[in-house]
Amino acid sequence: MSPSEQIIPHGHVLRYNLRERLTHWVAAAAYVYLLSTGLAFWSPWLFWVAAALGGAQVSRMLHPWAGLIFFAFVWNMYAMWAKQMKYTDDDRKWWKAVKYYSKNQDDKMPPAGRYNAGQKFLFWGFFWSTVALLVTGVVLWFPEYIPWNLRFLRYLSVLIHPAAALFTIGLFMIHLYMGLFAERGAFGSVIRGDVSIAFAKRYHPAWYKEIVDESSSPLRCTHSPRRTPEFAALRSHGIPRVLQTRRLVSESASGKYRCR
Ligand code: HEM
Repeated sequence: MSPSEQIIPHGHVLRYNLRERLTHWVAAAAYVYLLSTGLAFWSPWLFWVAAALGGAQVSRMLHPWAGLIFFAFVWNMYAMWAKQMKYTDDDRKWWKAVKYYSKNQDDKMPPAGRYNAGQKFLFWGFFWSTVALLVTGVVLWFPEYIPWNLRFLRYLSVLIHPAAALFTIGLFMIHLYMGLFAERGAFGSVIRGDVSIAFAKRYHPAWYKEIVDESSSPLRCTHSPRRTPEFAALRSHGIPRVLQTRRLVSESASGKYRCR
């Protein structure tokens, strides 16, 4: 995604393209299935979840396959985002100032790039836990192929597999809270792809600055062109709605509608 492509009309910035959004949601769906069936295998109190999901045998059969899908999509996240998730000196400063973040005093935080240090922690936490879950999961899937003298691998897997899963549950709960409740506008970005300029400036000022500095097209329009007299004129000319929208989008991209 080039910076000019990221600046879109109506005062918005593209945060996640379609590939990123699809990858995120397939991984999320696979994770929720793994979480539900995994917890059902782990505790008799939660066994009813496996029953609700088609029965114990179906859950046991599908759990490892869902694990492979989850791994493939987390790997895709790695391919897309690993470079942007590298720790920097600013991330160390971000952790030191994290108490301001928790009090919503974002102006006191060192400027975050596309991802803040907390999001980077989540990403690496998920990535390495997924690798651990895959390796130990394969051992638990095919225990009969583990030679007797390597049986310690089975013992280790029995311990590491649920421990890594519990760690991801902690990350997942924080991620849900941050994505759904703490940062307004974040959830829309993984659904529609865009965030408002206000969101980008507040939570990811260094990323916003980077896009604006590198972009060849100027930023515009925090108000909707639908409310402008030009829109009313187009309407009165009886131009079909889809063409009206296209024309307004291209006009706002060419700088006609500037932010006031
Ligand atoms: C199913 C419920 C989930 C919801 C509601 C959710 C929500 C979100 C939201 C709102 C964002 C955008 C945050 C931003 O850019 O400011 C995001 C990004 C992200 N999500 Fe999820 N997510 C879910 C599941 C998962 C799972 C299971 C994973 C693990 C693979 C995951 C990994 C990520 C990563 C790595 C990012 C980018 C970095 C970050 O924002 O933390 N998500 N998610």
